[in-house]
Amino acid sequence: MKILCFLLILSVTAINARLFEGQCRPLIAPVVDPFNYKLYLGKWYEILWYDDEYETFDECIVFTYDPTSTDAFDMTLDLQEANHDFAHQQYKGHGVLSNPGELSTTFGSGIPSRVNHYVLATDYEHYAFVWDCFNVNSTHYNERMWYFDREANPSQRPSEVENLLTYFDPQYIRTTYHGKECLY
Ligand SMILES: *[C@@H]1O[C@H](CO)[C@@H](O)[C@H](O)[C@H]1NC(C)=O
Repeated sequence: MKILCFLLILSVTAINARLFEGQCRPLIAPVVDPFNYKLYLGKWYEILWYDDEYETFDECIVFTYDPTSTDAFDMTLDLQEANHDFAHQQYKGHGVLSNPGELSTTFGSGIPSRVNHYVLATDYEHYAFVWDCFNVNSTHYNERMWYFDREANPSQRPSEVENLLTYFDPQYIRTTYHGKECLY
């Protein structure tokens, strides 16, 4: 019973992201195509994130994508918990390239269920702008976006990123901390 409760709480937490009323809008920009999958892989620092309604203490966030075949990869999420002396946590996931510029990823063990990583802009060397949206039911949707950079503290924000950011409500855009406590 205890385990069941724990699992229930876990699954509720997992879907407890902020939801918007309505349904997903169409892609705000075309997906990058042609897409150079190999150049895209590697390490990305999360600079901005659009998602959470709940407070999170996860900072120093880094995603690493390592190829396992021509269209599959392992995904590692490294973060540090600002509320626990910046304790390091690591989560392993995996994914596939579903279409040019479209990745399907999961932190679970099975096959990813859908594309959840639309690359709307990248120059591979510096930045990437990634979008995701899904309809939770007929009245609510969940929308997410990430601005990734190859550097933890990029000196400037690319104009492509600035343009795409205008499509989002600034009050929900979260800046990931990459300060001196970060261990990478
Ligand atoms: C859709 O999900 C939201 C959030 O859980 C809920 O408030 C809403 O009532 C649901 N709508 C329907 C039609 O089930």
